[in-house]
Amino acid sequence: MKNKEFADSWSQYLMSNYAIPSITLVKGEGSIVFDADGKKYIDMLGGIATNILGHSHPAVVSAVSRQIKTLSHVSNFYSHPNAIELAKILVRLTGDKQSRVFFAQSGAEANEAAIKLSRKTGRTRIVATSGSFHGRTMGSLSLTGQISKRTAFFPLLKNVKHVPFGDIKRAKRAINSKTAMVIVEPIMGEAGVIVPPANYLKDLREACTKHGALLVIDAVQTGMGRTGQWFGYEYSGIQPDVITVAKGLGAGLPLAAMIAVGKSSQLFEPGDHGSTFGGNPVTTAASIAAIKWIEKNKTLAKCKADYKYLTSNLGSIPGITEIRGAGLLIGIALERSNSSQVASALQAKGVLVNAANPNTIRIAPALNISRRELDQFIKSFKEVMSDVY
Ligand SMILES: Cc1ncc(COP(=O)(O)O)c(C=O)c1O
Repeated sequence: MKNKEFADSWSQYLMSNYAIPSITLVKGEGSIVFDADGKKYIDMLGGIATNILGHSHPAVVSAVSRQIKTLSHVSNFYSHPNAIELAKILVRLTGDKQSRVFFAQSGAEANEAAIKLSRKTGRTRIVATSGSFHGRTMGSLSLTGQISKRTAFFPLLKNVKHVPFGDIKRAKRAINSKTAMVIVEPIMGEAGVIVPPANYLKDLREACTKHGALLVIDAVQTGMGRTGQWFGYEYSGIQPDVITVAKGLGAGLPLAAMIAVGKSSQLFEPGDHGSTFGGNPVTTAASIAAIKWIEKNKTLAKCKADYKYLTSNLGSIPGITEIRGAGLLIGIALERSNSSQVASALQAKGVLVNAANPNTIRIAPALNISRRELDQFIKSFKEVMSDVY
């Protein structure tokens, strides 16, 4: 079938919660993907910050193939080696031996787990930020600070207060001794790659510590090395109480985790929470393989260098006003509100990006994307901007 037939079938058989995709992707290798018409693209979006090692990475393919041939799934009545090995790695990455891990499948579920964990403090109030995205299940949607995604589903959780992202004064006014948790993205991804002021996380940490509230870092989009750090908050020097990760964690397979740090790791008791597929042997095998590959190849340092390279090459293109983000989570701010037009023109040239908001193109490619591919992306971007600006 070709793209057009796939689009027709999509509208016939799938629910209309998404716009009908104009292309159907059928094959990928590294940062290159092909659609059903045989057209080739550079994948600068990586499944929205998910395919950390691109498509069909040999390390991931071999770990997953080996695992599916050995043991597919176990219930949580039993243990299996991969869950323990991955949890051990994640605990190490937090830098706190007291940390403990709960595995789930999606970012929304990891945040649901954080909400439940915060209830175990005996408090119910939550502070979140406007513009944020934390998921679309009823609990995580209650945290998501985008009114357009929420209104049709009221009533949501009570006791969630949204304060402007980056505004520490407003946050401090909202946090008090009744606050169970404060949740924040280190960089707001869905909102268009918005970076908070330098001391924001540190000041939030102080306010949470003062009032005994849990500080939850939603690293679903910033996590697993994307920003040149494992979770995206480390530059601030803080230690959160909870970290949620998903997207890149499974290197393309559905895997998420809530990592409780320090004393908060003791809050759950047997029976408090669970998930059938969370920490499945195959998804955890993919994750372990990807993390090991990233560590071995010093990919975090590469991501930081890529950010500098992209910033210096894209920054001077007429029509681009700002490059925001860190590592390989980048928002390219446009002077005009024509990001959809720019994204479509790039797609026509064989480059996949996302129009995160009317003024911003977001890219979140595989962390191992090559310089050659980045150069091709820069060249196409220049050409498109000279056509549409
Ligand atoms: C920061 C953040 N949190 C949570 C989520 C929800 O993740 P999922 O779609 O896996 O439920 C997302 C998804 O984009 C996200 O970017």
